[in-house]
This record gives sequence, structure tokens and C-alpha cells, in this order.
Amino acid sequence: MSTKVPKVTFNNGYEMPIIGLGTYARKAEPGQYRQAVEWGLETGYRHIDTASVYKNEQEVGEAIEKKIRDGLITREDIFVTNKLWNDRHAENDVIPALKESLEQMKLDYFDLYLIHWPVSVNAKGEDTAIDYIETWKGMEKAVKLGLVKSIGVSNFNEEQLERLLRNAHIKPVVNQVEINPTFTQHQLVNFCKGKSIVPVAYTPLGLISEARPEFIGKDVIKTDPKLGEIAEKYGKTRAQIALRYLTQRGIPVIPKSFSKSRIEENFNIFDFELSKEEINIVDSYNINHRCVPGKVFENCTYYAF
Ligand SMILES: NC(=O)c1ccc[n+]([C@@H]2O[C@H](COP(=O)([O-])OP(=O)(O)OC[C@H]3O[C@@H](n4cnc5c(N)ncnc54)[C@H](OP(=O)(O)O)[C@@H]3O)[C@@H](O)[C@H]2O)c1
Repeated sequence: MSTKVPKVTFNNGYEMPIIGLGTYARKAEPGQYRQAVEWGLETGYRHIDTASVYKNEQEVGEAIEKKIRDGLITREDIFVTNKLWNDRHAENDVIPALKESLEQMKLDYFDLYLIHWPVSVNAKGEDTAIDYIETWKGMEKAVKLGLVKSIGVSNFNEEQLERLLRNAHIKPVVNQVEINPTFTQHQLVNFCKGKSIVPVAYTPLGLISEARPEFIGKDVIKTDPKLGEIAEKYGKTRAQIALRYLTQRGIPVIPKSFSKSRIEENFNIFDFELSKEEINIVDSYNINHRCVPGKVFENCTYYAF
């Protein structure tokens, strides 16, 4: 595919493709992550999102290595994001954790490294209440050592971002949070943009894809005829309309799929434009519903939601 993918520019001057391939799965067969990333790179994705907690770094790294070896891409052509897990928040744990991830993926640097959640826990999952300001000092060291180009956060609220900005020497470039048509997050998005922090949408398909029983009844977006009409008008799917809606709001998206056709479908969103009215229709599905509330962390000191 020869699609030209728009990029966003960070407050430090680096750029990131507005669509990336997500790689989180609750369950995967051996080789499934590797295959998905290979299909993604073949399709034209040049931005891959992973995290140490996804336990897929080795396979994702192997897919990247293969496509570099095959001559499809160079390391410089792609943008790789990884994330520090919550049990490595002590300032002196950041660099060792990062180096382990680089080694797993056989890479020399990440384009972007995120604090995955503001909360910190021990190996048993108990709150250790390490202040994310301490963690950030370790993240800043990573930039100085040349192990990462940019650093950012994920799952932070406004107050936490404000506090981080007051204490940081290096500003975070992104806040990766859940954003989708049933969780539109206008306030946090505007706040981030006002601080020159790029809001990145995880779980961008939201209830369009989710089939967990707790969501039944909330997922009218899957059947509502108005969205069906918009999709039909452009010859697209509901999922593509959701991703286009987000990117037209200037929000990068990182949809995940293990299916070749859906990996391609999700990438194929740059040849049409939604009107203002259509954007408003998609906005009207907002029910402030979080698919990823991080409930296991809700008793932690730095829980954000
Ligand atoms: N920072 C964080 O705390 C955080 C939290 C959650 C996610 N993330 C990142 O964000 C990425 C995306 O989020 P996500 O995986 O939760 O949700 P998502 O990308 O919105 O949805 C993924 C689900 O939708 C299905 N799907 C994919 N394309 C589809 C399409 N075109 N039509 C219908 N269904 C489709 C996938 O199934 P198939 O695989 O069968 O296609 C999968 O079950 C993750 O993979 C991860 O990299 C980060």
C-alpha cells in the first residue's frame, strides 16, 4: 500500500506517524504477535506500540528484525514505543528495566518510552506509592544516555500532568490514554494539546470491537443506523469511521489486530474526510464509558481515574 500517513510533531521536534499498530492481547498463540507485526509492516505501518507487560517484546522484535533483514525497512524508518511497567518505578530501576526491554527486542533505542501507569506496585501487585516524579528522573536519564529519543506518560490525569510539568526538566511528549467514540475525552485532549503534549488514543475502537458481557447494552454504536449510513457513504466500516474520527481530531491511534484483513482495514483511513456534521454524530456516541478502567489499581496512591 502506498498510503501517505500523516505525522504529528512532538514538543521536542521528533515526529510520529499518526497510526501505529497496537500489540496488546489477553491471549495469543505462539507466533501470533510476530505475524501481526510482519503484516503490519508489509501493510505500511511504521509505528509499533508495545510494553514490557505485554510479554511480546521478543516476537515483536523478531518481526522488526526480519523486515529490516528483508530490506523492507530500516530501523530509522520505524517508530517504536515501549513502556515501563508499574513494578519498576524506583528511579534506579528505570534504566535496567529499559535495557531489558531493548535487549528483548534487539534494539539500540526506542523512539518513545512511557511510564505505563502513574501507579507503582510490587511483584505481588501491592501499592508501593513511589512518586511518579521519582520515576520521571529515571526516564530523563534514559534520554541523556541516548537509549530513548522521547519520553512520555500513559493513563495520567490533568492534575498529575500539571504536577509532572512543574517538576520535569524534560517535558513529556505524549499522554497515551483511552479515547474512542464512546469515551471521547474532550477535556483531557484539550488540556494535553494546550500543554503541547500529544494525546494518543489507545483502545481506539472501544465498544465497536469489544464483546465482553459487561458491555452488552452499551454497544449500540455497533448497530446504530446513523453510523452505518456514514460508513456506507464512504465505503468504509464502522471501525474505520472511528479511527478517521480520532485522526481528524489530531489524535494518533494504535489499533490492534491479529487478522491480516483488519490490520489492512484499520490502516486504510486516509483517503476520505468526515464532515463537521459527521464528526458531531460520532461525538454523540459518547457515554463516558471506560473499557480500561485499571480497576486492579484503584486502591493505589497514584490511581488516576
Ligand atoms: N497504555 C495503556 O495502558 C494501554 C491500554 C490498552 C491498550 N493499549 C495499547 O493500545 C492498543 C489498542 O488497544 P486495544 O487492543 O485495547 O483495543 P482496540 O485496538 O481498540 O481493539 C482491539 C480489538 O478489536 C478487534 N479489532 C481490530 N480491528 C478491528 C476492526 N477493524 N473491526 C472490528 N474489530 C476489530 C481486535 O480483534 P482481532 O485481533 O481479532 O482483529 C481486538 O479484539 C493495544 O494493543 C496496546 O498496544 C495501551
